[in-house]
Amino acid sequence: MHNPLLRTLAMGTLFSASLASASDGQALAAAQGIAYPAVIAHRGASYDAPESTKPAYLLARQLGADYLEVDLQRTRDGVLVVVHDDELSRTSNVAERFPERSKSPVSAFTLAELKSLDVGSWFNRAYPERARPSFKHLSVLTLDEVIDIAEGSHDRHPGLYIETKVPGQFPGIEKDLKARLQARGWLDRPGRVVLQTFDRNSLKLLNEAMPQVPKILLLWLGNRGIPSASGQTYDPSGKQDKATFYARQQPKDKAAFLRWLDHAKQGGAIGTGPSATRTHLGEQSYSDLIQPWMNQATHERGLLVHVYTLDDRVDFQKAMKAGVDGIFTNRPGELLRFQQRTVKRSESELLKTLGY
Ligand code: G3P
Ligand code: CA
Repeated sequence: MHNPLLRTLAMGTLFSASLASASDGQALAAAQGIAYPAVIAHRGASYDAPESTKPAYLLARQLGADYLEVDLQRTRDGVLVVVHDDELSRTSNVAERFPERSKSPVSAFTLAELKSLDVGSWFNRAYPERARPSFKHLSVLTLDEVIDIAEGSHDRHPGLYIETKVPGQFPGIEKDLKARLQARGWLDRPGRVVLQTFDRNSLKLLNEAMPQVPKILLLWLGNRGIPSASGQTYDPSGKQDKATFYARQQPKDKAAFLRWLDHAKQGGAIGTGPSATRTHLGEQSYSDLIQPWMNQATHERGLLVHVYTLDDRVDFQKAMKAGVDGIFTNRPGELLRFQQRTVKRSESELLKTLGY
């Protein structure tokens, strides 16, 4: 269903309790040229292929995701690359390849060094049921290579949803990003790129560099984010499960949450990216910052809500009912099917067609 209005009406039928929010969100999204409700492929289609790799982004594109989500960092020799973690040990063979630098930041490596890493095999070990021999020896992508993927289909034209990751480590990355996007002609169409950050200073710098590009302030409960009622911080060395810990945390009070909406507005954002608690918890389940009153207050301030990161229908349903305007997901195919948008082929078939 390509017509955004028809999609909105369909969504309204599915989620009648959220009609008021849906119309608010649709108007706000339309004003920015942003898809509604937005399907944001989190690190690509990263449930079915190794995160932030070529097959993950190709698959997300071919499924029909509205946006390819990108975590942006910079190499020692100044190239913009797409890596989520601050360091490379979880998703690569850096410990074998560069044992003395296995916990060094991404910024400690040249592009050639990063390109020598295998960022696919870890996925086959972690998820044997989704493993493919062709995922071995995948390499880190540059921003330009993700742009090539986004531009590389005659019938699929996803946008980019780019996060400045640990921006304090990369002075000037906001200007570097503008230069690359401009050079590639990606700043010409409203809403084709959305910028996102947890960092208020980076938001300010992004806004100075690219005032016309929509920006999202990511919301987080806890350290350097919205203060929690408990005042506790998660202790990774403790026995408590991380998702269970965050699921029990609430903002200190209503004012503490609303203050971050003010930060978003003042920083030039057009929306927020709050965390959510997943029904089945897990690694990417955090505190619930998409309660209906929160989404309503966000819309009342003229801001969109794009929630991270949900993969299950039960959570898509809850989030839409609560009034969000878009969802970061590792399973863009599942979200598109949930939205009753056309997905012609399965993830497995598409990966095969793509050469994986
Ligand atoms: O960018 C939205 C979401 O991706 C934030 O979480 O840690 O997966 O980048 P993270
Ligand atoms: Ca991200």
